[in-house]
Amino acid sequence: MDVLSSLRAARLVPVVVLDDAADADALAGALVAGGLPVAEVTFRTAAARDSIKAMSARGDILVGAGTVLTPEQVDQAVDAGASYVVSPGLSRAVVERCQERGVVALPGAVTATEIQAALELGLTTVKFFPAGTSGGAPAIAALAAPFGGVSFVPTGGVGPKNLQDYLSIASVAAVGGSWMVPRDKVKAGDFAGITALTADAVAFAQA
Ligand code: 3PG
Repeated sequence: MDVLSSLRAARLVPVVVLDDAADADALAGALVAGGLPVAEVTFRTAAARDSIKAMSARGDILVGAGTVLTPEQVDQAVDAGASYVVSPGLSRAVVERCQERGVVALPGAVTATEIQAALELGLTTVKFFPAGTSGGAPAIAALAAPFGGVSFVPTGGVGPKNLQDYLSIASVAAVGGSWMVPRDKVKAGDFAGITALTADAVAFAQA
């Protein structure tokens, strides 16, 4: 299965902020145990690169890089083993580096103009970020009318309370969020708690 098909099948993309790469393997194990072998490891911490490396070495989880802002970070992410690259906004330089490196680019786009820019770069799947403050599910439904071939990954402000609003839209490929992976649980080493949150989210998404 290709990366976008795998994300579509998973329905959920856990957004991960790791302060210590030593936690990466256990965190990946917790997500896999919860039934969600997917992670978006954000370049918000210095641990991102080593965390991606540790997770992708397992071979049982689809690892992407998040918060990728520069072509240099694309290289770092891909060299570490990331198979997709997520950005909060649309950067031509980042998308083109992803295309050169042969990984899926998932840039943020929340307006018709941004979606057209993504289409011009050859993309048909975008991250809809920040979803909650950009009009939420109704905004995606409205954009889906003119952009019938575009798929969205809403992220930002999504949680158990509004997950179904997003997942019920046909053009939503998957929903991203950090609620399954609270940073304090990672720091406390509560990986069983993360597995429980993940399993709940998976059950909810499949219901
Ligand atoms: C992201 O980087 O995609 C967001 O920070 C995740 O948003 P959330 O924390 O509201 O889920």
